[in-house]
Amino acid sequence: MTFCEYKPGLEGIPATQSSISYVDGQKGILEYRGINIDELAKSSNFLETSYLLIWGGLPTKDELAEFEHEIRYHRRLKYRIRDMMKCFPESGHPMDALQACAAALGLFYSRRALDDPAYIRAAVVRLLAKIPTMVAAFQLMRKGNDPVQPRDDLDYSANFLYMLNEQEPDELAAHIFDVCLTLHAEHTINASTFSAMVTASTLTDPYAVIASAVGTLAGPLHGGANEEVITMLEEIGSVENVRPYLDGCLQRKAKIMGFGHRVYKVKDPRAIILQNLAEQLFEKFGRDDYYDIAVELETAVEERLGHKGIYPNVDFYSGLVYRKLGIPTDLFTPVFAIARVSGWLAHWKEQLAENRIFRPTQIYTGARNASYVPIEQRQSTHDRALLASLIAE
Ligand code: SDX
Repeated sequence: MTFCEYKPGLEGIPATQSSISYVDGQKGILEYRGINIDELAKSSNFLETSYLLIWGGLPTKDELAEFEHEIRYHRRLKYRIRDMMKCFPESGHPMDALQACAAALGLFYSRRALDDPAYIRAAVVRLLAKIPTMVAAFQLMRKGNDPVQPRDDLDYSANFLYMLNEQEPDELAAHIFDVCLTLHAEHTINASTFSAMVTASTLTDPYAVIASAVGTLAGPLHGGANEEVITMLEEIGSVENVRPYLDGCLQRKAKIMGFGHRVYKVKDPRAIILQNLAEQLFEKFGRDDYYDIAVELETAVEERLGHKGIYPNVDFYSGLVYRKLGIPTDLFTPVFAIARVSGWLAHWKEQLAENRIFRPTQIYTGARNASYVPIEQRQSTHDRALLASLIAE
């Protein structure tokens, strides 16, 4: 088959066959392994959902207990990873720290036995167990504190919040955080998952797969948007300023962060649940100053851009939930990564099961048969003043 039409961003082009998750972007439906996200948010928890995504079915009681036990056992970081983290600049972005730490795991577990189920299981467990510890450790270390050791009596989500805030979390807070992880765990072939699949297709190690996905998630058009949403709400500052701010963005053709989606043409089902979770938290712990601004912005964007199918996506309300849980703004995207590790791992396994290296084609638009010009005869194609100022920077 020859496919010659170029689609920027590969819009609408299937990159794989997958049985992990399903999205209906017109109706606002998301399912993991056929189970609706609303049902999982209500009845499951993050580790059970991760098991479902990665191993293909819901675990029995014993299988889940064993999985949770393995993860608990592997939460601690090697002291050399902690030492490496001490050298990171405290001003560095936590996503960069996380990407470096995920890649560094490959140094410690360098065996590459992709056809050994025990190796696959160990990699899944290690990554799910250690990524939250890395995020929490970086947060404490950049404040000049020692990282807090994981607590074996706390479950996955409660333990993360404990390691981050150095105190045992409120029960509702820990539950809501866990639901957030479930909601972010998987989402078909988004950019970071695609990146994970491409990396996996070379048969490299799983730590490189996750590191490349973390790097991809960090961008503001993808997972990084949750952090940008808070900056935007801060900039808007008041409900009265919502419409003037929106007008300004539309005039400049700037994107409104947390809105729009390649697949959803209605409000993201995860945003509906997240908004509800935010409201539950506000009821118990007080309303967030930015919430009224956010709701007004949603109304205004719907009026102006609803006809184009631009509605809140997963990143719009998640930040308001995380703020109430005491999570610093620049950790919002690492928290997204903690959750998405399970989706990335599910796609890694699926890719390995029927692997063929990704190697698409291109439509070449450059010169052909150009001649090599000797250096003395070349004309500079750069703006020399601009170049000088860049070099001086
Ligand atoms: C995630 O893919 C996934 O599944 C991702 C994700 C996951 O779980 O993995 O759901 C997580 O990444 C959510 C998205 C977070 N990003 C943002 O919130 C950033 C703001 N949104 C966008 O830049 C944009 O909507 C994207 C990146 C999400 C989607 O980009 P597309 O599909 O390439 O769409 P586009 O930029 O080509 O826009 C199409 C039209 C344009 O208008 P026209 O030129 O056709 O008139 O919609 C407009 C755009 O200008 N548009 C927006 C807009 N998003 C799209 N206009 C204003 N504000 C926006 N946010």
